[in-house]
Amino acid sequence: MKLSHLEGIESFAIVGATGLVGQEMLDLLCEHKIKFPKVKLLASANSVGEKIDFAGEEYEVEELTVNSFDGVEVAFFSVPNEVTQKYVPIAVASGSLVIDDSSVYRQKADVALIVPEINGALLKDYTEKIISVPNCTTTPLVLALKPLEDKYGIERVVVSSYQSVSGAGRKAFEELSSQTAALLNGKEPEISAFPHRIAFNCIPEIGQVTENGNTSEEEKVIKETRKILDLPDLNISSTAVRVPTFSGHGLSVNVELNNDFQSIEEVRELWDSFPGLKVIDNPEHHIYPTHVECSGSDLTFIGRARRDSSIKSGLNFWVITDNLRKGAALNALQTLELLYKYRRMS
Ligand SMILES: NC(=O)c1ccc[n+]([C@@H]2O[C@H](COP(=O)([O-])OP(=O)(O)OC[C@H]3O[C@@H](n4cnc5c(N)ncnc54)[C@H](OP(=O)(O)O)[C@@H]3O)[C@@H](O)[C@H]2O)c1
Repeated sequence: MKLSHLEGIESFAIVGATGLVGQEMLDLLCEHKIKFPKVKLLASANSVGEKIDFAGEEYEVEELTVNSFDGVEVAFFSVPNEVTQKYVPIAVASGSLVIDDSSVYRQKADVALIVPEINGALLKDYTEKIISVPNCTTTPLVLALKPLEDKYGIERVVVSSYQSVSGAGRKAFEELSSQTAALLNGKEPEISAFPHRIAFNCIPEIGQVTENGNTSEEEKVIKETRKILDLPDLNISSTAVRVPTFSGHGLSVNVELNNDFQSIEEVRELWDSFPGLKVIDNPEHHIYPTHVECSGSDLTFIGRARRDSSIKSGLNFWVITDNLRKGAALNALQTLELLYKYRRMS
């Protein structure tokens, strides 16, 4: 994947540079050898003065303030919702283009919610100053669903996600390590990031429980899938479970199609020819994508594809991606790349 159109950005700020997604953004920029004349690494007052090596230079983390965006061309926000709510309007008023990884703007009608392979065309002539990055579970789901919708049409989707602790940020990531170490040493684990112990456990609650019984995470997947696929009436049901893995969000998906597929091979080929997707599917030989293999990859992997004979035109499969990369930082970079490509063409 080339990110050559980003080179012309004069000044780039990462808001939340000390977080897991912020760090992944820095790693990706280094991997792709993308440098900007001016870089600002912003975080809370707790991190001020922290040193971060980036592209062969040492940067000091600065505190996010109302003056942070003077002269910033693009600001990538990856901070808690309340911080986004306060500072994105300030960044926009300062003239910055904001690409935001929180859920604050995802459902706003005039804000594009982008997975470039699916709805990147919305960025042609885009004049708004905010772009949203989808939830890290929504992105692999819509990538797998898009080719199915285009060829067969989708009647209904049932998705259960198996989400790693990195999806809940650095503190949650560290808690899996500390709880595991405590338990293996016969000590009582401390519980803080999740409502229950996560080490050697699974927790069927991500986000806050809403009025209809779904959690906020389950609601995000439902609403974002409808928005990105431009299917406002899509029948979709979602369950989200936190699992004790560090990286990768895996999804078990059941789809009822409008028109039947001929064979599983036909569906596998459809996915394999879609950008960013890779099918790894030979279960007789124990070959399918797992959380371990997807970590650190830019791709979204699909396996365990099979017919669901309990419904008409039914399909079951497993899809998984690195939540910090395609689920967050990589998708943001690809979105910016496409926006700048369109801008340079016009
Ligand atoms: N993790 C994922 O897989 C993922 C995927 C998609 C979207 N997201 C979204 O991305 C955002 C960040 O997630 P994350 O996993 O990177 O979280 P994280 O590891 O907990 O990092 C949070 C970042 O926000 C900064 N921050 C917190 N309060 C702040 C404040 N008052 N002022 C300035 N900076 C502040 C932190 O700075 P300090 O270090 O100084 O506290 C840190 O840099 C969240 O909105 C999350 O929902 C995450």
